[in-house]
Amino acid sequence: MRVIIEQDSGSVARRAAGFIAALLRSNPSCVLGLATGSSPIGTYQELIRLHRDEGLDFSRATTFNLDEYAGLGPDHPQSYRFFMQRQLFDHVNVTPDHTHVPDGLATDFAVSCAAYEARIRAAGGIDLQLLGIGSDGHIAFNEPGSSLASRTRLKSLVRETIRDNARFFGSEALVPRLAVTMGVGTILDARQCLLVAAGRGKAEAIRGMVEGPITASNTASALQMHPHVCVVLDEDAASMLERREYYRDAERCQLLLEAGERQALGLPVAG
Ligand code: GLP
Repeated sequence: MRVIIEQDSGSVARRAAGFIAALLRSNPSCVLGLATGSSPIGTYQELIRLHRDEGLDFSRATTFNLDEYAGLGPDHPQSYRFFMQRQLFDHVNVTPDHTHVPDGLATDFAVSCAAYEARIRAAGGIDLQLLGIGSDGHIAFNEPGSSLASRTRLKSLVRETIRDNARFFGSEALVPRLAVTMGVGTILDARQCLLVAAGRGKAEAIRGMVEGPITASNTASALQMHPHVCVVLDEDAASMLERREYYRDAERCQLLLEAGERQALGLPVAG
């Protein structure tokens, strides 16, 4: 796991957007896995800026969102489809037909979830999956206790998530009890995962994910099994990590390597 600690949520957003923009530039037809919640909003704002100011092109990309509330349609202001339109899709040149969000109004969820998985496979799999993390360590809506091999399915939300998300709905009673979510196994199939988190409220979940045991009690910890994960944190979200200083050292080495500064690292320089 590559752990990057930035000073504040603004630099987290710029860094995360930088990774996504680099992928879009090197592979304009890439398949992006997208996330909702407050965590990725800054990243989307930076991507919109890069589209506007630097012509970052989304027209050939395909997107798959992680999850959707069951029972909410695309016009419901708290649906994740609505969120994606407002926070990103309406402001960049993504091709509408290329954007996918699980169907919250399916009449048969087993069928629509299997179809969602099939669509991801048909698109060639997800190149980069953007993720936030719940305060209980969930990724997408894979609540504690979810199988680490799970696929897209209907999932009941735990009370902590309902409480956390009540701020968007006005009251806990209005938060849906069920969601359609990619499984942990679906997420682990992505070629690369990029998780963003900011604020003290995420510090414990982040410690469990990065330094705790792999456990269904913190489904994000399954990312420890993935060979290409980058976690971008602000100081507060990183505040409970025991190996903070090591991650900073490792990141300095990584940046020197990327800049070709091999000498500074005591490595042999060619020719
Ligand atoms: C929801 C979403 C998750 C998200 C989490 C954290 O539960 N399903 O994908 O990571 O909220 O939300 P926030 O970023 O608002 O803290």
